[in-house]
Amino acid sequence: MSEFSFQTVPSLTFGEPAADALASMVAGVGARRLMLVTDPGVRVAGLVDPVVAALETSGLTVAVYDDIEADPPEAKVLAAVEAARAFGAEAIVGFGGGSPMDTAKLVALLVRAEQPLSEMYGVAQVDRSRVPGGRLPLFQVPTTAGTGSEVTPIAIVTVGAEIKLGVVDPILYADGAVLDPSLTTGLPPHVTAHTGIDAMVHAIEAYTTKLRKNPLSDSLARQALLLLASGLPRAMEDGSDLSARGDMLLGATLAGQAFANAPVAAVHALAYPIGALFHVPHGLSNTQVLAPVLRFNAETNPGLYAELADLLVLDRAARSGSGTGSDADRAAAFIDFMAQLTADCGVDPRLRSVGISHNDLPKLAEDAMKQTRLLQNNPREMTYETALAIYSAAL
Ligand SMILES: NC(=O)c1ccc[n+]([C@@H]2O[C@H](COP(=O)([O-])OP(=O)(O)OC[C@H]3O[C@@H](n4cnc5c(N)ncnc54)[C@H](O)[C@@H]3O)[C@@H](O)[C@H]2O)c1
Ligand SMILES: [Fe+2]
Repeated sequence: MSEFSFQTVPSLTFGEPAADALASMVAGVGARRLMLVTDPGVRVAGLVDPVVAALETSGLTVAVYDDIEADPPEAKVLAAVEAARAFGAEAIVGFGGGSPMDTAKLVALLVRAEQPLSEMYGVAQVDRSRVPGGRLPLFQVPTTAGTGSEVTPIAIVTVGAEIKLGVVDPILYADGAVLDPSLTTGLPPHVTAHTGIDAMVHAIEAYTTKLRKNPLSDSLARQALLLLASGLPRAMEDGSDLSARGDMLLGATLAGQAFANAPVAAVHALAYPIGALFHVPHGLSNTQVLAPVLRFNAETNPGLYAELADLLVLDRAARSGSGTGSDADRAAAFIDFMAQLTADCGVDPRLRSVGISHNDLPKLAEDAMKQTRLLQNNPREMTYETALAIYSAAL
């Protein structure tokens, strides 16, 4: 077996009410002044106030910062850092989807940092000597079952008008994550679908990644895919189904643990420019390029996709115990399954359905080629021409 290393957050709770779990985690680090980073949608959904009230009852002073938007722009992150400094925050809680959780990571880091955010983009670019005292204690409470940001060392920021960049550094692993499925029962169906497919993409890309794939990330990705493939259709059918929501939330977290160690690849690389240029939600942009990227990859590397088909028992012959389809056939069955699931969730994956036209594709392909951090993980080499062909197939 090859050498590998694996990291994740040190503490995780599942099922306990968020306020209770948070109160004991925060007490564990001795913090009294807490800043909760969220967004207006989460607040309007009524999720924030009861948690804040319960935390205040337990003796904490809580400030709520909700001026966060999807795909957080750099300026919004820096404004949140100023608010945390002004409040004198002793700990930061990310409470929401990937956008608030990613912002919370950077707030916890930047409050004490002398290094500017602009010098932190990329992998392991945070200079510990320029963060005296280290980052603030950081806790994450996801309210979407999607990004897995609660367990990843990644924060994605929109820089300038149209580029999404990541700060990827172990310092961004939270001190704790709280998984409370009841926070996700009110997610609207389209957000459930987009974020759920994003989580499945994390599992698929972690399992098939070229670099740093390892036995732990494989186990997590496989379990994640089983939970999500079962939970997503049930949650679409009945959003209040707590068991389906729990499967999705745990599945998304396990997928996050997998891809934090075995990183995502071309689906995300080609999705990011769509999000940055056309403000398409992260999960939807992934869904748009998913099938064409997988077909491209499976043409030369079908084996691992075939294993995922076996995992989900997609080969009818295999179900009867006599499955002997070729790798290519089983990989195709897996890709068809993902396309059917997308359709069953009512998601239209065509780029033209969000107003993207043929003329936009060269710029998308150009920007996708800049995502070198992700493209290096792809099982098959991607060029400008192949990226353009994939966008054309997705149109
Ligand atoms: N850090 C990582 O590892 C990682 C991985 C993938 C994506 N991302 C980033 O995460 C962001 C996307 O995150 P996301 O997909 O979770 O979406 P999001 O955080 O942008 O939220 C999407 C919408 O859902 C609403 N919402 C969230 N929870 C809700 C709830 N329980 N009930 C009702 N409404 C709710 C929000 O108000 C928002 O309007 C992007 O910026 C993406 O680049 C980060
Ligand atoms: Fe993602």
